Amino acid sequence: MSKKFRIFATSDIGESIDVLRKRGYEVEVYDWPQAPPKKLILEKVKSGIDGLITTLRDPIDAEIFEAGKGSLKVVAQIAVGFDNINRADANRYKVPFTHTPDVLTEATAEFAFLMMGALARKMWTAEHLTRDNKWGYWHPYLPFLGDEVTGKTIAIIGTGRIGLAMIKKCAGFDMDMLCYDSAYQNHEYIKAIQEVKDLRYARGITRQKTFIKYVSLEEALKDADFVSIHVPLLREGESSTPTYHLVNERTLRMMKPTAFLVNSSRGPVVDEKTLARALKENWIAGAALDVYEKEPLPADSPLRDPAIADRCRLYPHFASAARITRLSTDPNKGMAGRCVQGLIDVLEGNYGGDVTRMPYVVNKEAFAQAS
Ligand code: GLV
Repeated sequence: MSKKFRIFATSDIGESIDVLRKRGYEVEVYDWPQAPPKKLILEKVKSGIDGLITTLRDPIDAEIFEAGKGSLKVVAQIAVGFDNINRADANRYKVPFTHTPDVLTEATAEFAFLMMGALARKMWTAEHLTRDNKWGYWHPYLPFLGDEVTGKTIAIIGTGRIGLAMIKKCAGFDMDMLCYDSAYQNHEYIKAIQEVKDLRYARGITRQKTFIKYVSLEEALKDADFVSIHVPLLREGESSTPTYHLVNERTLRMMKPTAFLVNSSRGPVVDEKTLARALKENWIAGAALDVYEKEPLPADSPLRDPAIADRCRLYPHFASAARITRLSTDPNKGMAGRCVQGLIDVLEGNYGGDVTRMPYVVNKEAFAQAS
């Protein structure tokens, strides 16, 4: 390769770093497990790097793009979500940024499903009972019972890639499904799932007829036993359909007191303070969360209140944290592989150098030819 590209990675992403080095890239990796201070990212960008590998912990905005003026050619994010990158700023500075869609779709949906089960069947509380040596007897209903997931009604809020994968998992558990998405609907997929459901009934695999349909947000929330969130975080002004605090007092109060909330999308989609109150005052039965308004979850978060511990499962932004999903160097399997491929596409001018044709570039609109 004629030119040696210089890269700064704000985090180690495993063997994919070697993939770049083998291609002759000069790659510096921030080796601490925590996110680097913004000052350091600015310093590296100012030093003239060609590419920046980022995680969802790094705020990437005008200040960064200004520092990289004339040298920074690409920001490659190892995540599907990119709310930490200011898209308008990237567009103003005409810097393409990439993400890693698809490769984490199944892992994330699977985790959402599993934490829903852990919550409803009280698996954490039940394990504690055993471990803490408080399992004193087998009894038909003491000290507590859980709720079954099979055959229940779930509201799928957001029917993008991960929402659709969640639907696929829920279909296997014969759940009725109420889907809502204000921005993107996939009626073909929903129709295909209904066909699968009908076949399961026709062949006697399931004894109940079950359904899937798009409904209004209110209908979805009001009739569901489980509500699972799969929308991107869009703040006011970023979209005509913002999702910031979509789960708030008004929407939580629409849910049944026996219903459970599951969030594997982005923390700020849920008004956490209100959710903690909702759990404490029994507006809803429980919540399983993998993402938070502030990460890591602060020590004084009301979600840590021991009074709601049996009804509130808390995970450390872990849904995509499966070995192959996170680290495979294969761009068709791993986030790390896909992240590096996105970076290579831009720097090496794949797709004839046409950014709008590069599959992992997010802000294609900034590069479309004015016609
Ligand atoms: C993980 O949260 C991601 O957005 O990839």
